[in-house]
Amino acid sequence: MSTTNGQWRGVIEEYRDLLELPEGLAAVTLREGGTPLVHSEWLTGLTGGEVWLKVEANNPTGSFKDRGMTAAISVARHEGAEAVVCASTGNTSASMAAYAAKAGLKPLVLIPEGKIAAGKMAQAVVHGAQIIMVRGNFDHCLDIARGLARDYPVALVNSVNPVRLQGQKTASFEVVDFLGDAPDFHLLPVGNAGNIAAYWLGYQQYAELGRATRRPVMRGFQAEGAAPLVTGEPFPDPETKATAIRVGNPASWHLAEMAAKESEGRFAAVSDEQILAAQVELARHDGVFVEPASAAGVAGLLAELSAGESYAGRTVVITVTGHGLKDTATALETFTDIVDTVVDADVAAAAAAAGLA
Ligand code: F0G
Repeated sequence: MSTTNGQWRGVIEEYRDLLELPEGLAAVTLREGGTPLVHSEWLTGLTGGEVWLKVEANNPTGSFKDRGMTAAISVARHEGAEAVVCASTGNTSASMAAYAAKAGLKPLVLIPEGKIAAGKMAQAVVHGAQIIMVRGNFDHCLDIARGLARDYPVALVNSVNPVRLQGQKTASFEVVDFLGDAPDFHLLPVGNAGNIAAYWLGYQQYAELGRATRRPVMRGFQAEGAAPLVTGEPFPDPETKATAIRVGNPASWHLAEMAAKESEGRFAAVSDEQILAAQVELARHDGVFVEPASAAGVAGLLAELSAGESYAGRTVVITVTGHGLKDTATALETFTDIVDTVVDADVAAAAAAAGLA
């Protein structure tokens, strides 16, 4: 991993030789990627393995989407696009809006009515996106985005655009560069299924290049109310508090199934209760605050341990995909007494209220 005067250059410059992108592509970058792999003492203790968190909140717009978006927006500008469009449960639109702003392109966002976390909405608005709310879910939005890109002069930057996966696969490169080899297992949340497909691409590429001696088993976790890859059937009315993964008919369905099959992995579902409990536990044990969807991989690991699955002696990487500050409303829903007591501005009163006196 090379840097310029110590500064990480963004995923295109760091890994250009390994990405299928147009020759000489000028990168539109906010220095995405280079995210930390944080050791989880908590999950390491619970499993008897070594558990690492790939903390994707540390990307410029607070989610892993920036890795693919630097690639998609760079190519869109390279090809002369003036406007870009995406369907989104929130993070893709936040990322697209930021990179489009940087590139001088016009961002057009399609989002499901009433189901976008406020933080993500704020990002899209402040970065200057034109926002269209659709009476429908993410899957309807994606159909419309595809239709717009087919019939009108706007470039589609959802992960059905293969350039997105080229950027996103750099996360696996970083994992291997840091650990020195691929982990035994890689766990992550799955919604539209682009990310699991991208990770698998990256791991395969590194193994083929001899930079890793093995490929991890890929395990993807969906919310119970939006678990098409688990049941094998699309969900016409997906529902979950983890709105980022509220997807009923993932665009990268086939690629995700291949990743699970080829890696001898699988998909499983976790309930909203398990997801929200994992979110809080992760914040309290490891100091890592993620949005609800991002806790699905951790919830999955905990559920598997309860069911008797063993990760003892194995290296496990869990991607936590986006920042907790994006959706504080859902995070706080489970807390009834947020403020313990209100006191006068007085040390003795605070000490008494805190039970110290
Ligand atoms: N985690 C978060 C925080 C997400 O925003 C998403 C997807 C996923 C996980 C799932 O990744 O779709 O590649 O399987 N969000 C998309 C969006 C759908 O529009 O922002 P995936």
